[in-house]
Amino acid sequence: MTRFMGCLVLFSLTGFCFSLEVFADEATHPNNMIPLPAEIIWQEGKLPLNAFLQLTLTGVKEPRVEVATNRFTDRLAKRTGNLAGSTEGPTLTIDCKAKGLPIQSVREDESYNLTVTPKGGFLSAANPLGTLHGLETLLQLVEKGDQGYSIPCVTIHDKPRFLWRGLLIDACRHWMPIEVIKRNLDGMAEAKMNVFHWHLSENQGFRVESKLYPKLQEMGSDGNFYTQEQIKEIITYARDRGIRVIPEFDIPGHTTAWFVGYPELAAAPGSYQIERKFGVFDPAMDPSKEEVYKFLDGFIGEMAGLFPDEYFHIGGDEVNGKQWNQNPEIQRFMAKQGLKTNEDLQAYFNKRLEKILAKHHKKMMGWDEVLNSDLPKDVLVQSWRGIDGLADAAKKGYDTILSNGYYLDLALPASIHYAADPLPAKSDLTPDQRAHVLGGEACMWSEFVNPETVDSRVWPRTLAVAERLWSPASVQNLDDFYNRMEVEGPRLEELGLTHRSNYLPMLKRLAGNTDVNPLKVLADVVEPLKNYQRHRWGAYNSDYPLDRLADAARPESDSAHLFRKSVNSYLKEAPAFGDLKDLIAPLENWKENHQALKPLLEMSDLLVDVLPQSQDLSSAAQVGLEAIHYLKSGQPAPASWQEKAKQILDRAQEYHAEVQIAVIPAIRKLVLAAGQLDKLKGMSVTDWNKSLDDQVQAAKPKEWD
Ligand code: ACM
Repeated sequence: MTRFMGCLVLFSLTGFCFSLEVFADEATHPNNMIPLPAEIIWQEGKLPLNAFLQLTLTGVKEPRVEVATNRFTDRLAKRTGNLAGSTEGPTLTIDCKAKGLPIQSVREDESYNLTVTPKGGFLSAANPLGTLHGLETLLQLVEKGDQGYSIPCVTIHDKPRFLWRGLLIDACRHWMPIEVIKRNLDGMAEAKMNVFHWHLSENQGFRVESKLYPKLQEMGSDGNFYTQEQIKEIITYARDRGIRVIPEFDIPGHTTAWFVGYPELAAAPGSYQIERKFGVFDPAMDPSKEEVYKFLDGFIGEMAGLFPDEYFHIGGDEVNGKQWNQNPEIQRFMAKQGLKTNEDLQAYFNKRLEKILAKHHKKMMGWDEVLNSDLPKDVLVQSWRGIDGLADAAKKGYDTILSNGYYLDLALPASIHYAADPLPAKSDLTPDQRAHVLGGEACMWSEFVNPETVDSRVWPRTLAVAERLWSPASVQNLDDFYNRMEVEGPRLEELGLTHRSNYLPMLKRLAGNTDVNPLKVLADVVEPLKNYQRHRWGAYNSDYPLDRLADAARPESDSAHLFRKSVNSYLKEAPAFGDLKDLIAPLENWKENHQALKPLLEMSDLLVDVLPQSQDLSSAAQVGLEAIHYLKSGQPAPASWQEKAKQILDRAQEYHAEVQIAVIPAIRKLVLAAGQLDKLKGMSVTDWNKSLDDQVQAAKPKEWD
C-alpha cells in the first residue's frame, strides 16, 4: 500500500511552478536524508540487510558507475558488517541509461529514481551523476533496528533545485594538503554537491606548479604547492564523485605571492615577500603593461590544459587601487584610454582577460566586483557582497551564483546558511532572470583554519547549504533539518572527515597531562567568535598556530543547541513547568566546573585568558538554577535579583579568549521568564515565549549571529 505521509502540495500563484514536500512519518521512518529529496513516497515494510545486497548493473557501462558502486559496497559492508559479494540475499539493480559527458557540465541531468521493496532496490538515472546521488541516498536510508540493519521501503523521485552547488576551499592562507581536499570531496559527494572551487593563489601563497613560470611556486609557496600530477589526481577523484573542479587564480589584486618570483607583473617596483598577515593589501598587477597580458596568456594557456572545466575563476575582488594611483605610467595609460576610475581600469583588465580566456576555450568567472564592466554575457558572477549583487547580475543577463550568506569562516550557525536562498520567496526576478541564478557555493576561507581544524568548520554546517541548493524551496523546517543533521553529520566521518574526531585530541593537547574533562565541559559550550571578530585580536598571521580553545571549539555548539531546545520545551509548558532534569543537570555541571578547571587554566599559557569565561559560565549557571527555582515557585523573581542576574549574564557575553559562551542566551531566557511570570496572565504561552525570545535576541551582541 502506498502512503503519502504529511504531504504538502504547493501550487504557486504564477501557475506553472509545482513543488512537493513530503515529511517523513517520524514514528515509522526516522528520515535522516540530507539533502531532503524532492519527492518521497514511503511504502509499507523494510528491505532487510541481514545478507548483503547483490548488485546488478544494467544500462551503459561507465567506469564512474562501477567505481561508485564499489565505494557504496565498501561503505555498506563496513556499516552493516555483512560481506559484499554474497550470492544470496536481496538485489539492488542499478540502471544507468546513458554515459555522461567527457567533461562534466553544469547542465547535465542529475536526477534519479529509487524504489525500495522488501525484496530489493531499483535505482535508475539518466546519467552517472544521478546514479551517484541515488547511491548516497540509499546509504542515508540504512537504519538499524531490533532485527538488524534495513532500508525502509520507499519510492523517491529526486532532482536538484539548482545546477551549481559548490564548496570553495582556500588552500592559500593556510596550506591544505591533498588528503584534506580528498576527504572534503567525499563529504561533498555525500551531500550531493557538484562544484569544488579551489582557491589557488593569494597574497599568502601560490599553490600550483607552473612549468612555464616555475618561480610562481618555487618562490611564492614556501614549498607548499600541488604538483600538476596531484591536480590531475584531484580532478579525477572529483569527477568520480560527480564534482567539477573550478580553479581560482585571483587577479589583479590578492597577488603578492605571484610577485615574489615575478615582480615585473606588479604595479609598483619590487622586491616582494610572501605576505604573512591577513587583510586587503596594496600589491596588484599592472593593467597598463602588455607584458602582463603576455604572461597571463601563457599562464592561462598552461592552466587551461590542466583544468578541464569550461569555467575559469579569475577572482577580481578587493583591489584597493593604491599601487595604481601611485604609478604615473598607469595614470598616463588611463588618461590615454579614457579610463576615469580604478573600476574602469579593472574593467579594461577584465575585458583583456576575458579574450585570453576565450582564446583558451574558457568562460570567465569572477567575484561580483567584475560586474562593473560591459563584459560578454557568458561571464559568471559570484556574489559575495550581498544578495543584491546576485539579483543585479541576473537582471543584466549574467549567470550568477550566491556565496553571500554561505561564508563558513564567519563561524555562524547552520540556521543562518539554511535561511540564505539564492531565490528567496520575495525575489522580484522575472522567470528569465531567475534562470540566470545557477545556485551557490559555501566558502571556506582559511585565515583561521588549518588541516587539523578545517573539517570542523566545513562540516556539518555545509549540509545546510547543500540542502538549500538541492531540495525544493518549500523545504524550510529548520528543526527537522537539525534533527537530520544530528544523524548525518557524525556519519560523514565514515568518509575520513575529522570534524568530530579531532576535537578531543585538540583538547587533550591543551590539557597536557591533566584530566581533560573539565576543559571539555567548558569547550562543549563555547564557540569561536563570529563575523571576523577574531581578527580584532590582531596577532594572527599565516604562521600563527591555531591551537587554542577558540580553534578546538566548534562553530555551533551541540550542547548549547540541546540546552536551548530543552529551555524552549520547558518554557512552553508554562505555567505548569514539567520535568527539569535536562536543565538542572547541565546547569549544575557548569556551575561546579570552574573549581575543577581553574588550576589548569592558571598554569597554561594557552589557556590562561579563558579564566574569565570559566568563571562566568559558573556564575551564569548559578543564575540559571535560581531562575528555575523562581519558575517552579510560580512567583515572579524580585526586581533586585533580575538586575543582578542581568549584570552577570551581560558580563558573561563579553569576549575573552576569542570565544563566546553559547548557552548564555538560553540561560537569559530562563532568567527573563522568571522575572516575567506575571505577564502570562495577559498573554498566551506562545506570545509570552515569543516576547522572551525577542528580548534575548535584543540582548545579544550584534556580532553573535
Ligand atoms: C572575498 O571574500 N573577497 C571574495
